[in-house]
Amino acid sequence: MNFRFSVPSTVLFGSGVSQTVGEEAKKLGMKKALVVIDPGLKAAGIADKIESALSRESVAYVVFDRVEPNPSDSIVEQGAILARKEKVDGVIGVGGGSAMDVGKAINVLLTNPSPINQYDGLGLLQNPPGPMIAIPTTAGTGSEVTEFCVITDTKRIKKMVIGPNTGATLALVDPDLTVGLPPAVTAATGLDALTHAIEAYVSVAASIPSDILALEAVRIISRNIKEATNNGVNLEAREAMILGSMIAGYAFNNAVLGLAHSMAHPLSAHCGIPHGVANAICLPYVLEYNIPAATKKIADIALAMGAAPGGTDEEVAQRGVRIVRDMCAELKIPRLSECGVSEELFQRLSEDALNEVSTLFNPRKPTLAEILELYKKAY
Ligand SMILES: NC(=O)c1ccc[n+]([C@@H]2O[C@H](COP(=O)([O-])OP(=O)(O)OC[C@H]3O[C@@H](n4cnc5c(N)ncnc54)[C@H](O)[C@@H]3O)[C@@H](O)[C@H]2O)c1
Ligand SMILES: [Zn+2]
Repeated sequence: MNFRFSVPSTVLFGSGVSQTVGEEAKKLGMKKALVVIDPGLKAAGIADKIESALSRESVAYVVFDRVEPNPSDSIVEQGAILARKEKVDGVIGVGGGSAMDVGKAINVLLTNPSPINQYDGLGLLQNPPGPMIAIPTTAGTGSEVTEFCVITDTKRIKKMVIGPNTGATLALVDPDLTVGLPPAVTAATGLDALTHAIEAYVSVAASIPSDILALEAVRIISRNIKEATNNGVNLEAREAMILGSMIAGYAFNNAVLGLAHSMAHPLSAHCGIPHGVANAICLPYVLEYNIPAATKKIADIALAMGAAPGGTDEEVAQRGVRIVRDMCAELKIPRLSECGVSEELFQRLSEDALNEVSTLFNPRKPTLAEILELYKKAY
């Protein structure tokens, strides 16, 4: 048996931990921090909470609040210009995957020359970055504990800066911050986390530690996603979701992802579909497609989601596909045809999906024609 298993970030988990950001920033040696956040989070009052926690501990800060969904390289470069000008010595990324990833990318550019695009790939940084704190406000990407940083380039391709120095130094995982997350975002980001867990579990790079975490994440997320979506003030469900999303992050940080993510990235890059929605649209079809190559593992996933046991592994796995399909319908995930995507784009989307890194880790090796067929099924 051979594997590498890495957990880049130290984690402080629990209700209220985001309020320790001032103390923790000081412990990491930050005298002046760049707070990276998006406009939605400012409006939700989350920026104020983080800013007052920093002020209480006299940590100086500047705010960069121009993060957009599926963030582009040009936003990262704008943030880096501000960070250099203000001579910050640390970055605090607060938000969903978009803000945390922009925070990670800006942090990379504080110790490495621009542009960020040259670091697309594994381990290409010249210098290790300084301290970075990640504070998730969605229960979805797991970016707070991963070494991945996903940025969309000007050619509308999602690029991934990956490596031992790209993760946050510290993650403050506070379920309270997710209470105000609207139902549709809760559902989509939760299904992103479920996709991480499922794809890590069936990945060709899966290992025993990643399997343990991935399957437990499947269990936790599938039991709590509907309650968190329909009754967002239920703190127990919120806590479970952010825990599930974090441990799915540990799993895919090591096992990587699969074809659902490969197909979702071009949908976000070309059509602006939110990451979680794009994954949820593709997941049931990719899961079904993968059954011949990962029958037993998909049966395990089905059982973890509460499928009835009995019959062959293939029958149990098919029950799992139905559970995922029903879950997406109940959580009001649209079909691809309802997202304004033109069928004429399918060829380009399929070509991009085939070239995504995650495709290498999918248990069944797809052809271009098969990917095209999967987009058609999801339409
Ligand atoms: N680095 C990684 O490991 C990793 C993994 C998966 C996905 N990603 C990337 O992360 C991005 C997607 O991140 P996301 O799905 O978390 O969405 P997001 O960060 O784009 O946020 C979605 C929306 O939710 C709002 N929001 C977030 N938290 C809120 C809260 N608590 N209350 C109210 N509104 C809130 C934001 O303002 C935004 O409008 C994509 O670019 C994706 O490629 C990164
Ligand atoms: Zn994802």
